[in-house]
Amino acid sequence: MSTQNLTDAGSYQFGKFKKNAEELERLKLQTTIALKQEQEIWSESGLKPGMKVLDLACGPGFTACELAKAIGDGDVTGVDINEELIATAHQAKESEGLENVSFALGNLYDLNLPENSFDFVYARFVFQHLEKPEVALSNVWKILKPGGVLCILDIDDNWTSFSPESDAFVKFIRKTGAGQKRKGGNRLIGSQLFGLLTKAGYQEVSTTIKPITSEDIGINYFLGVAVLFRVEMLTRLQKLLALPQLRKIKKAAAAPNAWGALGVFATTGTKR
Ligand SMILES: C[S@@+](CC[C@H](N)C(=O)[O-])C[C@H]1O[C@@H](n2cnc3c(N)ncnc32)[C@H](O)[C@@H]1O
Repeated sequence: MSTQNLTDAGSYQFGKFKKNAEELERLKLQTTIALKQEQEIWSESGLKPGMKVLDLACGPGFTACELAKAIGDGDVTGVDINEELIATAHQAKESEGLENVSFALGNLYDLNLPENSFDFVYARFVFQHLEKPEVALSNVWKILKPGGVLCILDIDDNWTSFSPESDAFVKFIRKTGAGQKRKGGNRLIGSQLFGLLTKAGYQEVSTTIKPITSEDIGINYFLGVAVLFRVEMLTRLQKLLALPQLRKIKKAAAAPNAWGALGVFATTGTKR
């Protein structure tokens, strides 16, 4: 498969969305909608008050702010390659009135951060967009303290379900997954993380999968947050061709018995 105009931002380029304001809202919703489940992942992964935390590819900073609340007298640094998102992150910090979080522009392929300096590195929904995940893993290794933990949260299209059975849904997931691959991303990253971290030398590597269902978040949010935004992975022509599919998916989702779920993968590894 041929790839197109790859950049270090991989298959996620905020600013190039058809409706950037909507994408920002989606990112915000993605932080709040299953926060309780995510907080459980943090404590199971070893996040503790007082830790020095890096939110790698923090985007608009909503999650970094939640991490800052969770670690009390610790501190969180958020870095992201996108200037506009970092500006939004500064605003999020201000409006939350948080002292223990800071943000900076940064590229995970060229991290300008001190070695051996973080207890916990969190990478949320970024590895699916990376063309070179192994380079990112090696850079994270350098900045983790000995004993420090990397926790990656991501998805895997093999763990996405929808009922009633819908050809349109299956085709849309397949097409948008292929589109993301063309842009350098990988929608099957979830089940590959265990192997990638192990190969990169991390110890005590472990993957858990947390189901998020439409019963937890409602079928409309499930579609909006987890499915429909993926149209951005298509070319202009493909977007047009996908319109009938999208209509069918929305119609199927409007049925009273509609149900959807996806598995959120959390993979942790320790630097020993
Ligand atoms: C789907 S967003 C997730 C943002 C945030 N982690 C969240 O969960 O809301 C992916 C993020 O990865 C960032 N990103 C992509 N490639 C990057 C790179 N090479 N270095 C730093 N950030 C990168 C994008 O700018 C974007 O903010």
